[in-house]
Amino acid sequence: MKSGSKHSLVLILLLTSVALPAATHAKDIRDCGSNFRPHLQVPAGNPDWVYANDVMVTGELFYPLDLVLADLSLSDSQVKKLKGKTVLSVAEGFSGLLPHLGRHGADAWGLDLWYSADSIPENETGKRMKKFIAENEGQLIAGNALDMPVLDHSVDLLVSHQLVNNLLMEKSMTFLEEAFRVLAPGGEARVFGFDSLDIETVKARLLARFGSDIEVSSQSISKQWVYLGKKKTMTGQLLIFRRASLDP
Ligand SMILES: C[S@@+](CC[C@H](N)C(=O)[O-])C[C@H]1O[C@@H](n2cnc3c(N)ncnc32)[C@H](O)[C@@H]1O
Repeated sequence: MKSGSKHSLVLILLLTSVALPAATHAKDIRDCGSNFRPHLQVPAGNPDWVYANDVMVTGELFYPLDLVLADLSLSDSQVKKLKGKTVLSVAEGFSGLLPHLGRHGADAWGLDLWYSADSIPENETGKRMKKFIAENEGQLIAGNALDMPVLDHSVDLLVSHQLVNNLLMEKSMTFLEEAFRVLAPGGEARVFGFDSLDIETVKARLLARFGSDIEVSSQSISKQWVYLGKKKTMTGQLLIFRRASLDP
């Protein structure tokens, strides 16, 4: 990445970094909050869950780091190669991924709707969310995945775990176009959570939209997952795409 664009990215990210309450920050950059408002809900009878616009906000307790890395098909050696690279985790929630990437030297940023919420509930999940904010302050971007307050061509690797499974196909495509927009030449996106019924359509639509500027592939990821003592099998589709580099 060229240093000029990197400085611009840092500047815009600093301008949009989380500072609660931050409900108005985004409109100074782009009107990225207009499609979704970061409305947090705590459903009655299930006081530990928190939802942002009906999407569950999750973290390490729900999806352990190892599972997130496996879903994104990111090995230890790949993570080590991210040192000094700009990585954006979209719909990061309060997972272990962002701190993990930062510990390995990546310039890692998390983007999520709820980072601009006016108030975080006083339940167990809320306590974890507040801790995550405190520990990762300065690396968080409050924003909407469908209209990200991030500069064009500024990200080397974009990752997103368990966002697209919450979106309708058209919204997923809007997000993927946004992901493509922010990728630097040669940059890659890894997006986990598509259904096996949708993945081929998604790939075909990306190819139709971006032609020779994009390389697209996918992997089916299936593994055991233990949550609150219960074993589950989770299968999902990982979409990987790369923006063509500028080399001839
Ligand atoms: C199931 S959680 C996944 C969190 C994390 N990636 C993980 O694997 O633990 C879904 C996340 O998507 C966020 N989210 C939902 N809609 C979003 C949107 N339009 N833009 C940004 N984040 C969104 C929610 O706030 C929530 O944190």
